[in-house]
Amino acid sequence: MNWDETGPDTAADPRLVDSSADGEDQAVEAALRPKDLEEFVGQEKVREQLDLVLRAARARGATADHVLLSGAPGLGKTTLSMIIAAEMGAPIRITSGPAIQHAGDLAAILSSLQEGEVLFLDEIHRMSRPAEEMLYMAMEDFRVDVIVGKGPGATAIPLELPPFTLVGATTRAGLLPPPLRDRFGFTGHMEFYEPSELERVIHRSARLLDVEIGADGAAEIAGRSRGTPRIANRLLRRVRDYAQVKTDGGIIDKDVANAALKVYEVDPRGLDRLDRAVLGALLKLFGGGPVGLSTLAVAVGEERETVEEVAEPFLVREGLLARTPRGRVATPAAWAHLGLVPPQQGSGKAGQPGLFGT
Ligand SMILES: Nc1ncnc2c1ncn2[C@@H]1O[C@H](COP(=O)(O)OP(=O)(O)OP(=O)(O)O)[C@@H](O)[C@H]1O
Ligand SMILES: [Mg+2]
Repeated sequence: MNWDETGPDTAADPRLVDSSADGEDQAVEAALRPKDLEEFVGQEKVREQLDLVLRAARARGATADHVLLSGAPGLGKTTLSMIIAAEMGAPIRITSGPAIQHAGDLAAILSSLQEGEVLFLDEIHRMSRPAEEMLYMAMEDFRVDVIVGKGPGATAIPLELPPFTLVGATTRAGLLPPPLRDRFGFTGHMEFYEPSELERVIHRSARLLDVEIGADGAAEIAGRSRGTPRIANRLLRRVRDYAQVKTDGGIIDKDVANAALKVYEVDPRGLDRLDRAVLGALLKLFGGGPVGLSTLAVAVGEERETVEEVAEPFLVREGLLARTPRGRVATPAAWAHLGLVPPQQGSGKAGQPGLFGT
């Protein structure tokens, strides 16, 4: 594998990267990545479609079309990009939008690609405008104009590129300018995973980590993993730690998983501290909303993006929070989940936390 100097992860906003992941965790995460489409759990649609795209390209002896992968963090975009390269038997170069601030940075990468190489551009929506425009031409015509010199004396030297496959990943497909989006031959949208799929992920990871886990233990972890394999793997590792210390490495069953996840403050519905903080602020400080995203973020001491991209998609999907044109609003289920009493219907008064609420 062929890493860009920036490495795989440096460009990601550190706040969007799992803050509890230490070096060991990251190494384990890499070790747990499925290596081919066969091993990749779930995402049936994307997998089937991608399989056709890759098989057809292989049969033609051609380079695969450019692929855009969109979806929430931890659903497997980076993993799929590596699988694409592996399935095509091609090397992969990994970089990210924020690492490419100047068109020159991109030109340097593009001009050093080998024929058939996969260029993985993570967080493609965060690339600079000039680089984006250079990318249009590179994707369509496999050509870039390298600007030599400055000011009136500057000249554009056209440079032919070998055919390559761009794999772009984004958590925010809506932020991509349409001309860029349209240049991808295939767009795969990654969905959250079903609990049964996460159970398969957990059993697979447990095998790789040499951890003994029962079906009920895996189900317990899967149910709290927010539809996200990265979280499932992380919770599995924490439950493993607990089992190692408290049960002398015994099998992970429902009770062990339960007790461990209590220690790590992951509640039965899978809400973690951040989720509960966001919901708690929305209910207790703003009477259930509507409240603007920025205000909510300040109230929990987090960046807007963290609240919007890490906590909210899950809360919305769980039916605990709604995004409305006037701001974020808590649903009745949110009040119930935190054990609070919603404001009286129709009284027009702001909601009061229940006297005995937590
Ligand atoms: N379909 C899957 N089957 C098994 N494991 C998976 C699957 N998808 C993801 N994983 C696991 O989840 C972890 C996170 O996946 P990955 O890094 O590919 O997510 P991502 O979508 O790139 O996230 P981000 O947006 O944060 O970069 C990986 O370590 C991988 O082991
Ligand atoms: Mg990734």
